Amino acid sequence: MMVARVCLFSFVSLIVLAAIDGGKRARPPRNNDALSFCSWLKDNQQKKCEAQPLLGLSARDGVELALKECGNNFKDRRWNCSGVTIADVFQRQRMLKADVRESSYLHAIAAAGVTFQITKGCSQGNWDDCGCDPKPSGRGRKEGEPSWEWGGCSENYRYGYEYSTKFMDPSKSAEKTLSNYLIRHNNEAGRRVIKDNMDKSCKCHGVSGSCTVKVCWRTMPKMEKVASLLRKKFDNAVKVKLNKNKTKLTRTYRGRRGRKRNTNSKRPPSSSLVYAGSSPDFCRADKKYGVLGTVGRTCNKSSIGTDGCRMLCCGRGYNTVNRVKDVKCNCAFIWCCQVSCDICKEEWIEHTCK
Ligand SMILES: *[C@@H]1O[C@H](CO)[C@@H](O)[C@H](O)[C@H]1NC(C)=O
Ligand SMILES: *[C@@H]1O[C@H](CO)[C@@H](O)[C@H](O)[C@H]1NC(C)=O
Ligand SMILES: *[C@@H]1O[C@H](CO)[C@@H](O)[C@H](O)[C@H]1NC(C)=O
Repeated sequence: MMVARVCLFSFVSLIVLAAIDGGKRARPPRNNDALSFCSWLKDNQQKKCEAQPLLGLSARDGVELALKECGNNFKDRRWNCSGVTIADVFQRQRMLKADVRESSYLHAIAAAGVTFQITKGCSQGNWDDCGCDPKPSGRGRKEGEPSWEWGGCSENYRYGYEYSTKFMDPSKSAEKTLSNYLIRHNNEAGRRVIKDNMDKSCKCHGVSGSCTVKVCWRTMPKMEKVASLLRKKFDNAVKVKLNKNKTKLTRTYRGRRGRKRNTNSKRPPSSSLVYAGSSPDFCRADKKYGVLGTVGRTCNKSSIGTDGCRMLCCGRGYNTVNRVKDVKCNCAFIWCCQVSCDICKEEWIEHTCK
């Protein structure tokens, strides 16, 4: 067995990481980056972007964050969100042009991501037009609760919410297509997840850990939470169609036995994700929608779920590969201040779809 001493490794890498991170934070987003991003958008969106380039760039960051969380939420499914680009989102193309559940999720999480990121900018004082929320909603303390006061910077989602609506939704004058109705509805459902899940963080001030004064402020839910709440909405998405007059979306009849056909004109709940078409099986690559297919995907042989080889590989079967990886082991702390580890081999068997 190969044994190596990895001294000082953690300590040195910590310093390096801190330096990189510090450098990043110190550099504000530059106008040039922003303008080149704007120039690449179309029509109305481009105009809005050019009017406030740094906000546009922040919207892009929000979408990037949203796509990352989408990947985490769908990693055990045939469609795992990879292959979707930021350009797809802003130009409403490929998967974002389809009218299936996956498209709904993408629109919703992107709109939420923009709301989130712009709001963060408000809290950090990056934009002229917004800041912290001086009057957080959900007044005061409940009876019996230890006393606390609003203080610090309460996150104000309203500006980000408005911005996301203006920037991400098809304009009012846009054609009355099914797709435009779906996008507006799902974008709104995404933004609502932030609005409806505003939370509270608190901090105690006082002598030696006592809580003489407790100060609380409003915080948005983390994008990770937003993504998983939307994942639940994805599983319960409502199938809709556009009514004859093209004035609203209505639920399509679901055909439950013993029920009257009276649900036809019913609007879907505004917090639901809505879709109109059936999803493809996502087994094979499809350029038109930017679908990558499942060839080469790692699957779990013992699982009967969506991550199992049976489901994931679409019946094509799988290959078995022996894998080896070097990992740190037997780590010990040496006074002061070093961590010393051995390098061990870790072996496992991996299955990948044919
Ligand atoms: C469609 O619009 C017409 C006129 O605006 C109205 O009379 C009719 O009731 C509408 N039909 C539906 C299904 O909404
Ligand atoms: C998602 O799927 C693609 C191909 O379909 C694959 O390359 C990628 O590694 C997958 N991502 C995860 C996190 O499993
Ligand atoms: C594979 O699936 C089984 C059964 O669902 C589960 O217990 C196991 O943790 C999974 N393994 C991995 C690596 O996800």
